[in-house]
Amino acid sequence: MSKHNFMLFTLFLLLGTAISDQIVSVVSTFRHGARAPMSQSSWDKGIWPQGYAELTPAGMRQQYLNGVEMAYRYISQSQTISPTYTAAEIYVRSTDTNRTIMSAQSQLFGIYPTGPQIATQALQQGAVPPFKVKNQQQYISALGTNALPNGFQPIPIHVVSANYDNMLVGYTTAACPRFAEILQQQQESEEYQRKVSIYSRGLQNQVYQVFKENVTYEMAGYMCDTLTADKFHGFPLPDGVTDDLYYEMYANQNYTNSYFYTPEGARLAGSQFFQAVINQFDGTINGTSSIKFGFYSAHDTTLIGFLIFLGVWDGNNPIYASSLIFELHNNAGNYAVHISYNGDIILLDGCTDPCPYETFKTMMEDKIVPNVTEACQLQGNGRMLRYNYNPYLDIDTLT
Ligand SMILES: *[C@@H]1O[C@H](CO)[C@@H](O)[C@H](O)[C@H]1NC(C)=O
Ligand SMILES: *[C@@H]1O[C@H](CO)[C@@H](O)[C@H](O)[C@H]1NC(C)=O
Ligand SMILES: *[C@@H]1O[C@H](CO)[C@@H](O)[C@H](O)[C@H]1NC(C)=O
Ligand SMILES: *[C@@H]1O[C@H](CO)[C@@H](O)[C@H](O)[C@H]1NC(C)=O
Ligand SMILES: *[C@@H]1O[C@H](CO)[C@@H](O)[C@H](O)[C@H]1NC(C)=O
Repeated sequence: MSKHNFMLFTLFLLLGTAISDQIVSVVSTFRHGARAPMSQSSWDKGIWPQGYAELTPAGMRQQYLNGVEMAYRYISQSQTISPTYTAAEIYVRSTDTNRTIMSAQSQLFGIYPTGPQIATQALQQGAVPPFKVKNQQQYISALGTNALPNGFQPIPIHVVSANYDNMLVGYTTAACPRFAEILQQQQESEEYQRKVSIYSRGLQNQVYQVFKENVTYEMAGYMCDTLTADKFHGFPLPDGVTDDLYYEMYANQNYTNSYFYTPEGARLAGSQFFQAVINQFDGTINGTSSIKFGFYSAHDTTLIGFLIFLGVWDGNNPIYASSLIFELHNNAGNYAVHISYNGDIILLDGCTDPCPYETFKTMMEDKIVPNVTEACQLQGNGRMLRYNYNPYLDIDTLT
C-alpha cells in the first residue's frame, strides 16, 4: 500500500469507527464538590458562611464545569441525550444530604443551561397561581416567554432516606448493620493493629503538638478532611501543619476511609448500584427503557466502595467532584462498556477497554448480592460488638 493510500485507508477506518461506534447509554456517579469541613474545630481558620458540611460556591462551580463537559461529550459529540432536558431520558438520584443534592443541581445546570418557553401569549398571561401575586404583571413581563427566570430548567432529583439508601450509602451501619461486624473483624486484624501501633508512636504525638488534641487513629484521618477544606479554599492551616504532616494525615485517611471494604463489604455497598447500571444498560440494549443517562450524586466513601467492587481502586481518597463514568458503546450491534475515573481509563482485570458487555455483565453479576437487606443483617447472634468508632460508617458524618 502506498503511503497516500495508507493514509486514506486510516482516515476511512477512523471515520468508520466514528460513525459505527455510538455511546448509547451513560451512568455517572460522582463525589459532591468542595464543601465546608464536616464539623467545627477550634483550630480551623476557615470561614464557612453556610455552616459545616455544606457545598461552597467553589464546589458549585466544580460541578457546573463537570456538567459542561458532560454536555459536550454526551450532547454535542455523541448525541446520546437530547440537547434539552427530556424527562424520559435521564434519571437523577442523590444521597439525602444538602451538598450532594446541590452538587447534582449544579452539574445538571451545566448540562441543561436553558429551560422551556411558554408557547402562547395567552398562557404566558394565564399561568398564574390561584391567589394574586403582588406586582404580578411586572414579573410576567420580565419573564417574557421563559417559563422561569434566565431560562432555568428544573430537574427532579430522587432521594432515598439514608437509613434505607443501600445503593449510595450502603456502607453505613444504619443502612447495613453488618458493617459493624466487618469493622470489628478488620480492627482485630494484624494489619490494623500494626497501623495503630505505628500511629501511636509517631503521628499521634505530632498531631498533639500542633492541634493540642489527642486524637485516636480513626479520628486523625478525619481531621485531615478539615485541612483539605481549608487548603482547597485558600484558608491558612494551623501553625505547625507542614506538608509532611498533612500528607501523613491524608495517607491515614486513605486507609480509615476504606479498610472496611473487604470483598464482602464492597459487595454489600456496591450491589444495588451495579445492578442499576446493568438494568439501565440492559434496558437500552433490549429497548425496554428510554433512560440513557443515570446520574448518581454521592460521597468519597461511596466511590471508594464502587472502585473496590470493580477491583481498581488506586488507594487515594477521591477528591471533590471526582467522577466515575460508565459508557455503553454500540459498535455495529456489538455492545461494550468503557469506564473512566476522573478522565483516566479504568481497565478491569480480565477484560479489555472497552469491555464486551456480556463479559462486563457477568463480572458484575458474579459479585452482586441478590438481597442486600438480608445480607446486611448482623450475623453474630447478638454478641457484643467492640470496635473503635469510625466516622465514615456513621450516617451522621457522611463525607
Ligand atoms: C441542610 O442544611 C441545614 C442548614 O445547615 C441543616 O440544618 C440540615 O441538617 C441540612 N440537611 C441535611 C439533610 O443535611
Ligand atoms: C493520648 O491517648 C493515648 C491513648 O488513648 C494515651 O496512651 C496517651 O497517653 C495520650 N497522650 C497524651 C499526650 O495525652
Ligand atoms: C494516600 O495519601 C497520600 C497523601 O499522603 C498519597 O500521596 C498516597 O499516594 C495515597 N495513596 C496510598 C495508596 O497511600
Ligand atoms: C430488558 O432488560 C430489563 C432490565 O434488565 C429486564 O428487566 C427485562 O426483562 C429485559 N427485557 C427483555 C425483553 O429482555
Ligand atoms: C430480602 O430479605 C429481606 C430480609 O430477609 C426480606 O424481608 C425481603 O423480602 C427479601 N427481598 C426479596 C426481594 O426477596
